[in-house]
This record gives sequence, C-alpha cells and structure tokens, in this order.
Amino acid sequence: MTPLNIPEWQSLARHYSDLKFVSMREQFALDSGRFDRFSVKSGDLLLDYSKNRITQETIDKLIELAEAVNIPDWIERMFTGDTINLTEGRAVLHTALRNRSNTPVMVDGEDVMPLVNAVLAKMKAFCEQVHNGSRLGFSGKRITDIVNIGIGGSDLGPAMICDALEPYAVEGMAAHFVSNVDGTDLSTTLAKLNPETTLFVIASKTFTTQETLTNAESARDWFLKAAKQEDVAKHFVAVSTNAEAVANFGIDTENMFEFWDWVGGRYSFWSAIGLPIALYVGMDNFERLLDGGHEMDNHFRNQPLAENIPVIMGLLGIWYANFFNAQTQAIVPYDHSLARFPSYMQQLDMESNGKFINRGGQRISYKTGPVIWGTPGTNGQHAYFQLIHQGTQLIPVDFVLPVNSHYPKSDHQSILLANGLAQSEALMKGKTAEEVRVELSNEGYEGKELEALLPHKVFPGNRPSNILLFSKLTPEMLGQLVAMYEHKVFVQGAIWNINSFDQWGVELGKQLAKAILPDLADDAAISAHDSSTTNMIKLIRELRQS
Ligand code: F6P
Repeated sequence: MTPLNIPEWQSLARHYSDLKFVSMREQFALDSGRFDRFSVKSGDLLLDYSKNRITQETIDKLIELAEAVNIPDWIERMFTGDTINLTEGRAVLHTALRNRSNTPVMVDGEDVMPLVNAVLAKMKAFCEQVHNGSRLGFSGKRITDIVNIGIGGSDLGPAMICDALEPYAVEGMAAHFVSNVDGTDLSTTLAKLNPETTLFVIASKTFTTQETLTNAESARDWFLKAAKQEDVAKHFVAVSTNAEAVANFGIDTENMFEFWDWVGGRYSFWSAIGLPIALYVGMDNFERLLDGGHEMDNHFRNQPLAENIPVIMGLLGIWYANFFNAQTQAIVPYDHSLARFPSYMQQLDMESNGKFINRGGQRISYKTGPVIWGTPGTNGQHAYFQLIHQGTQLIPVDFVLPVNSHYPKSDHQSILLANGLAQSEALMKGKTAEEVRVELSNEGYEGKELEALLPHKVFPGNRPSNILLFSKLTPEMLGQLVAMYEHKVFVQGAIWNINSFDQWGVELGKQLAKAILPDLADDAAISAHDSSTTNMIKLIRELRQS
C-alpha cells in the first residue's frame, strides 16, 4: 500500500497547490483567533502550531489522512503488544515500561507488568544501596562516579536525560558516558576518575556491540590495575537482554539488570538502560520521568486526533516532507541542559524512519524520514540560522521553550526566551522589500547604494515553526516531551507505511568493519575490496605509528 494512492493524500496534494503561496503573515493579520485555533495542550505542555503553512482546511485534510490510515488502530496495536515490528517479529512496548497505571500488558499471552515492576524494584534497591553507602567500592569508599559504557540507544537517552536533569542530581554523584570506540573517549573520562569510587554500567541490549565490548574490556583492564579480579563484581554491572553474553563477559548475572526484546534500543532509557539516570538523579526522579511519559501516552491514546499533540506534529512533518519537499527538520531547544536533545532525536527519528522499503517489502517512491538536526538556542542563531531565514530550502523548526530556568540569573532567561520567540516570529513574518527600503532610508541610505543593498536584507518569511512551551524542565516534563516525539515518529511511520522499529541499515557497515579489521594488521594478506578501500588499508598500515 502506498499512501500516494489514498484519496486523502491526493486531496492534500491538490490543496497544496492552492495553499503554497498563501502568506502566514496575512493569515495572522486576518484572523486574531489563529493562535487559539492552532494550539493544543497536554498537561503543562503547550504546542503552538499556528506559525505553520496551514489553514483549518489543511488540518482537516491531514486529520482525514490520519483517519484513512487508521492511526487510532495503530496506536491500539502498539499499546496492546501486537507484533508491529514485523521484520524482527516483535511487539513494541516501551509504553509498558512507563505504564504507571500498572494495567496488564500482554505479550504472547503473558502480562509483562510484573517483569517491568520487578526490574524497577531491583533498580530502586540498587540505587538506595549506592546512595546510602551500604554498597561500597572495593576499598570501602563510597561510589561517587557512574560510567555508562554503551552506544546508540544504550548511550544517547541516558546521557541526554542526565544532562537535562543535572539540577536533580544526587549530591556527590557524577555521571559519565563513554560511547565512542575512539580510545580518546574512554581515556579522557578515566583520567578524571578513581577506580575505588567508580561504578561501571555496561549497557548493551544485545551485548554484542563491538564498540561497547571493546570499551568495557579496556575499562576493566584500567580497573584491574588498581584492584583484584574479585573486586570486579562490586564495580561492574550490566544492563542487557542477553544474560548469556553478560556472563561470558565475566559479569555475574546477579549484577545484571534485564530488559526485553520488545524494547527497541532507541526507546530504551525507560527500561533498566535508565539505571545511570536513576543512580545520578535518584529513583524517585527516574519514576517522575516515567510518570511524564505515561501522561503523554494517555494523551496520545485517548485524545481525538485533532487535539492530539504527537498526531498533529507527525502530520505537520508529513505536510512539509511530502508536499513542500522539505529535506530536514531542525529541533532547537532554548535550554542549555537539552544540548544533547537533538542528537537523541537524530537516532529516534532517523533510525526509525530512515527507510526506503515499505512494510510490504516494496520500494518507496515518496520521501520518508527527514534529516534531524539542531543545537541549543541561542547558539544556533549565530551559526546556521542565516540559512533557515534566507537560504533556499524550507526548514521547519521546532522551538522547545521552558519558561523558567533552574538557574535564574538576572535577565538571562528573559533574553533567552525573547530570542526564541523572535526567531519564530521572524521566520513567519520575514521582512519585505518595502520594509527594508524604509529602514535603509531611515539609516541614511539612498539611490544606487540603497537599491544595491536592499535585496540582501529582504527576508522571505513564511517559514514554518512550532513552539513547545512549558513552565520548567522537570523530570515529568522531560518524560512528556520525549514520549511526544516518540509518538510523532510512530504516526509518521504508520502513514509512510514503513516499519519504524527495525534498523537493518546499520548492519552493512558493521559487517564490513569486521572484514576490514583483520586486514589492518601489519602482515595480513588484504582481502578483496574496491581499490579505494584497499589503498586506504595500505596507507593506514604505512602511516601507522607503532
Ligand atoms: O547500530 C545501531 C544499534 O543497533 C542501535 O539500534 C542500538 O541502540 C545501538 O546499536 C546499540 O546496541 P546495543 O544496545 O545492542 O549495544
């Protein structure tokens, strides 16, 4: 099934032809109720989507498309444990991990909630022991530093959340994240640490990931320079679905925190993969994060499509990708503590929806997932915003705006917020040639000089953005925000008719790296490659310093 053949899609295509030149600036001028019409709340989270290239008719048509592909049915299938991850034969149940109502969630006839609750209880007990000092390091000192060793979903989520929730950190606790197999990452992290007070969390869903196992082995070597083999149990724990591989690595499965194959890697910080979060900010705050996720799940599952934040966000993304031909989506948090949020969103969105084959195995002839990018405001304004305002591509932007800072300081927060709002307003309004002319002449320009400068100072405007506004970045709000984006990605995958829950596209590189690694050994015969790869291997062998 291709969405291109759905009548509602075709109707949107016709509507696009009528609407593509309509100016948002004029629409705002004509309709004082535009904000009320195009904004929606879930708890304390407000989505203002009024600065989009839409009319009420657009939204109606987008909702009709969502109905035509039966989004409500997809939502129920996900929440009730249907095997919607077809290519891996799995349910998709990160929502069960934060199912705070504790109602049964069945997978293959078994309620998974007792499993979820048992792991949460194990995490809680472990965190308490570390925090109250009943679990000490090998020399009797308190644990002060957590080093999470993982990559992708076993790194980005916990790292992003720990950064974002730094104001909630348990006193005396620091969290570090090592992901890159580049030895620089591990070495520079360990250089700051004392093995007596460091706890390693080896996080890998599969426990086969080359980077993670390599880093974990080197971390253990570092630790054993100061401690004995029998001390490893006190300083190394694992989070995985693969107990056998954990045991083979030498970590007692007593020290393993389990999760399950129905938790996708990029959706996994809600599971035991969140252990470093709970160690860093305390289990109470980790549970507050889960509460926020659950609140958004209830919103997503129960709100009508037209008042459903993830559905609206997903549909707007489709509107720009497939009708306006937008290639990318910027996510710009005006909160320094969300610095890692865009990277987290890259995996969530691009690993989920970067697909060229539909659920039926056919090649797709329409755009799927966009490139996701961004950095915190206001830094981005002084780097790439030039292109968003005056470049030749349409780049929809999500502005994430917390009203209150955890670190209030004179007028910093007002300046930050004024800038975020100004960017959104400027993108929408632009600046016409007439406005520039008046401005320049007020500045004393005239004649040829004025005319030469004028076109450079025009802003085309009519560039779309969403604002996600909330009071403060609490654990609950962060949970809501992430769950909202997860569901947005899900809605888009359902409309594009792709499986958002596999990631076969990462496998080829892994296979080839395994084949190239032995070829890099000094005396090895080089196996068959293209001439570029072969010559690179030769050059690396020549240039390598022993
Ligand atoms: O290579 C991609 C990937 O499989 C991600 O999907 C996953 O989050 C990451 O690697 C890490 O995998 P693991 O947790 O199994 O080490």
